[in-house]
Amino acid sequence: MLKALDDLESTGLDELAAVADAEALEQWRVCYLGTKGRLKALMPRMKTVAGEDKPAVGRRLNEVKRALELAFQDRRTTLAGPAASVAPIDVTEPGFPMGTGRRHVLSRTIDEVTDVFGRMGFSVAEGPEVEDEWHNFDALNIPRDHPARDPRDNFFLRDGLMLRSQTSTIQIRTMSGSTPPLRVIAVGRVYRPDTHDATHYSMFHQVEGLYVDRHVTMVDLKTTLFQFARAYFGPEAEVRMRPSFFPFTEPSAEVDMKMKIKGRWQWTELGGCGMVDPHVFKAVGYDPEEWTGFAFGLGIDRIAMRKYGIADIRWMFENDARFLRQF
Ligand code: DAH
Repeated sequence: MLKALDDLESTGLDELAAVADAEALEQWRVCYLGTKGRLKALMPRMKTVAGEDKPAVGRRLNEVKRALELAFQDRRTTLAGPAASVAPIDVTEPGFPMGTGRRHVLSRTIDEVTDVFGRMGFSVAEGPEVEDEWHNFDALNIPRDHPARDPRDNFFLRDGLMLRSQTSTIQIRTMSGSTPPLRVIAVGRVYRPDTHDATHYSMFHQVEGLYVDRHVTMVDLKTTLFQFARAYFGPEAEVRMRPSFFPFTEPSAEVDMKMKIKGRWQWTELGGCGMVDPHVFKAVGYDPEEWTGFAFGLGIDRIAMRKYGIADIRWMFENDARFLRQF
């Protein structure tokens, strides 16, 4: 019996190796592994095997069967070629989950800030990022020889155009196109050729505010900024104004806000503000004897960085998903 099994195994494997196509393979399968095949034909002979030899012979029988089956599967795979060896696609298998995106931390800040001013009655104005020098400088009472107009501090383009260096351009655009009273904010990108470091970038964002009416005073200005600080940073927030100079406001002040940073209330410089200079009113055709107004400009990137504890402005523009995912 053992001899018969050895023979079956060796001839079976030899013949299988010679099989060249699917048809021959099927014939081989029927011949060796089929229900009327040679392996099955050996089964009845088990009865003739002596009792004590039965376990060894039985084991050998299984071995040969397994060897022939494995060799058959192998041969079938090789004959079918590489395409058939690829695992079949299970269309019912769940797919890979898609990462859901989220709004950029800056976009969110812009929405939040716009929302707070919106509740105070400010509508949103817009203007181009490519500006002319009149809107960026002249109309804002910034004379030709002012250091802010230095070519090294601005991105000048051809034909008297430039990338706006401040959103104060929107003051001019808004006033030129409408009659007072008016109350607008504008949010947008501004450009300056600063060397990039943790707090400087050649492009950043500002929110500009402008309020023009009769009898507007510094009290209105401070109250507006104060209400914003309270609404945005919380009930303990404060606003501080330090005397300063801007060509388009008189008097002018720097704005600081006291906000909670990592659990501690701290003062942060956010921008500038003041009462609209009569020269600016004249530039847009408003009578400075009749109209008064205030304006302010705050750094949005600074607000977002302080509020969310972002230590480096460059991270906001690198679009590294690991950073963005945190907000
Ligand atoms: N445009 C100024 C800047 O970029 C900020 C600013 C200061 C805006 C005073 C204003 C203002 O509207 O009144 O530095």
